[in-house]
Amino acid sequence: MDFQTAKTRAAELHKLLNQYGYEYYVLDQPSVPDAEYDRLLHELIDIEAEFTELKTADSPTQRVGGDILEMFNKVEHSSQMLSLGNAFNEQDLRDFDRRVRQAVGDDVSYVCELKIDGLAVSLRYENGLFSLGATRGDGTVGEDITSNLRTIRSIPLRIQEPLTMEVRGEAYMPKRSFEALNQAKAEKGEEPFANPRNAAAGSLRQLDPKIAASRNLDVFLYAVADPGETGVTSHSEALDYLDTLGFKTNPERRKAADIEEVIQFIDGWVEKRPSLPYEIDGIVIKVDSLEQQRKLGTTAKSPRWAIAYKFPAEEVVTTLKSIELNVGRTGVITPTAILEPVQVAGTTVQRASLHNEDLIREKDIKIGDQVVIKKAGDIIPEVVNVLAEQRTGEEVEFNMPTHCPECESELVRIEGEVALRCINPKCPAQIREGLIHFVSRTAMNIDGLGEKVISQLFAEKLIEDVADLYKLTKEQLLGLERMGEKSVNNLLTAIEASKENSLEKLLFGLGIRHVGAKAAKTLAQEFDAMDKLMLATKEDLVAINEIGEKMADAVVTFFESEEVRELIAELKAEGLNMDYKGPKPVAPEESNSFFAGKTVVLTGKLEQLSRNEAKEQIEALGGKVAGSVSKKTDLVIAGEDAGSKLAKAESLGIEVWDEARMLEELTQN
Ligand code: IVH
Repeated sequence: MDFQTAKTRAAELHKLLNQYGYEYYVLDQPSVPDAEYDRLLHELIDIEAEFTELKTADSPTQRVGGDILEMFNKVEHSSQMLSLGNAFNEQDLRDFDRRVRQAVGDDVSYVCELKIDGLAVSLRYENGLFSLGATRGDGTVGEDITSNLRTIRSIPLRIQEPLTMEVRGEAYMPKRSFEALNQAKAEKGEEPFANPRNAAAGSLRQLDPKIAASRNLDVFLYAVADPGETGVTSHSEALDYLDTLGFKTNPERRKAADIEEVIQFIDGWVEKRPSLPYEIDGIVIKVDSLEQQRKLGTTAKSPRWAIAYKFPAEEVVTTLKSIELNVGRTGVITPTAILEPVQVAGTTVQRASLHNEDLIREKDIKIGDQVVIKKAGDIIPEVVNVLAEQRTGEEVEFNMPTHCPECESELVRIEGEVALRCINPKCPAQIREGLIHFVSRTAMNIDGLGEKVISQLFAEKLIEDVADLYKLTKEQLLGLERMGEKSVNNLLTAIEASKENSLEKLLFGLGIRHVGAKAAKTLAQEFDAMDKLMLATKEDLVAINEIGEKMADAVVTFFESEEVRELIAELKAEGLNMDYKGPKPVAPEESNSFFAGKTVVLTGKLEQLSRNEAKEQIEALGGKVAGSVSKKTDLVIAGEDAGSKLAKAESLGIEVWDEARMLEELTQN
């Protein structure tokens, strides 16, 4: 074959193979048998082998690149990849609809789409050629996973027009591929993926594109990054436009004239959901008109013109085999249900906290019962109720013990509390849990010191209190199970680094009763140094806005203890920082910010900063943050769903800003 003939034939083959591939992978309507496709593909492979210059990037033979990457490059998205606010019930949907109509008037229609449970991807086309595919990352910067995305057959390597554009959608693993993959993993003795979403994400994060290619991933596109530039005026047109360009969109979408139709659409899918060949976790509702979308705008994280309705958590029935008792850091005894292992929302559940005795009585839970389980917020397993009608009479009533299962001292029920407590300060379970708390993320954040390592160290008597952590030696650690040289070195570095933590982390880590992470921060900010806090009286403490009587008492009692004082001296001797290192309130006269000397009230839900962060930043600029609106208030920052404080501010004629305006002013400095 001469070059010219080969070139002409290659072009014909591209066209045919793209056409057949499109029919098969995008439309799911093949027009030729698979063997015919394979025959043409092999013909093209042969031609390209002979004339390598015909092997172009968009050739149907070029799905799986040969190179194994060393790492994924970071890529900046052309415009931010937002996520969605959630609705959990009809009321949330009606509230969303009301907010929308308040902003753009009553003439609104919506598009309802399935919420595919995979991971968001962004695809860039340059002059019609697929040039870059990325993960969402933090919304601004994602990772370049182009070579893995190329293996997804429904992603066109070239689109119908030579356009430069970015499109977005969800990459996912169909249920059948997921089951086959886990089956294969099980046969090889490997850990299965918990759910199709994790499997899809794991596959796209492989550095070898051959692995992604073998995983049968798929994609649905649901947005054009800059729809305005394509000439369409609505989201539904944008989706149709994606279709004409050769992209795969989800056909199960519907326009809804009002929120009632949206709710009907959702109700319909509750039934039909299990019959889909892929997982969905909800329905996405989007304002159709692009003009109205622009008017509504976005918050820092999500558009105001769309919302995700999340299906209620899946419930399953299993047997409660026994009830285990755990002693917590503060001595509270928590009963935990030990369950016959069962799959719920993608993972195996075998334990669920029962919280306390009252709850067991209230729900009338007996050992041997058939119980309904769900995952709250789709994460934490809980017992919903008992199927009392299925009892056989063999079930056994559960009674809380009278003595601590760990140290055998008598348990007490403190007045006004539901919990039973072990009040022996030397109870080994409490000490162990206290150590685990000390190293945890919100406290001293010592990486590599999880529950297991702490339990081992404690059992071997290598640590008895938190100061002992700082005396651990390399030899001691090397003696532990599954601890190699490298992990020991990392661990020692992490322990050393924790000495530099700001005071609030240490305070929280020490586990003073009633002092959570937030209160620890307040105390650290107010007193600046451990020594000063240790001298604080109850009066000093309650004078602080966020510190109540109960907490003040607990702090005073804590530092009165001789043992505590000794422990702190020891930690100091080990070189732990005892000072607050974070931002501090600044006196108004030291600041030339807008906020200097102003009294600000924060209300509603902020998206970008937590309330505490906003407070800190305002205070660092010489402002004061108050809890309630009065005539003395200078400014109210109203986040989403602001309620009575906003109303009051308006009635008093006080200036009101939204979060964006506040951020603008905060970053002025
Ligand atoms: S629209 C600006 N539509 O759900 C709107 N998202 O937090 C961006 N998802 O990150 C999202 N199916 O990964 C949209 N039909 C759909 C979707 C969808 C799944 C995912 C997406 C997003 C997350 C929402």
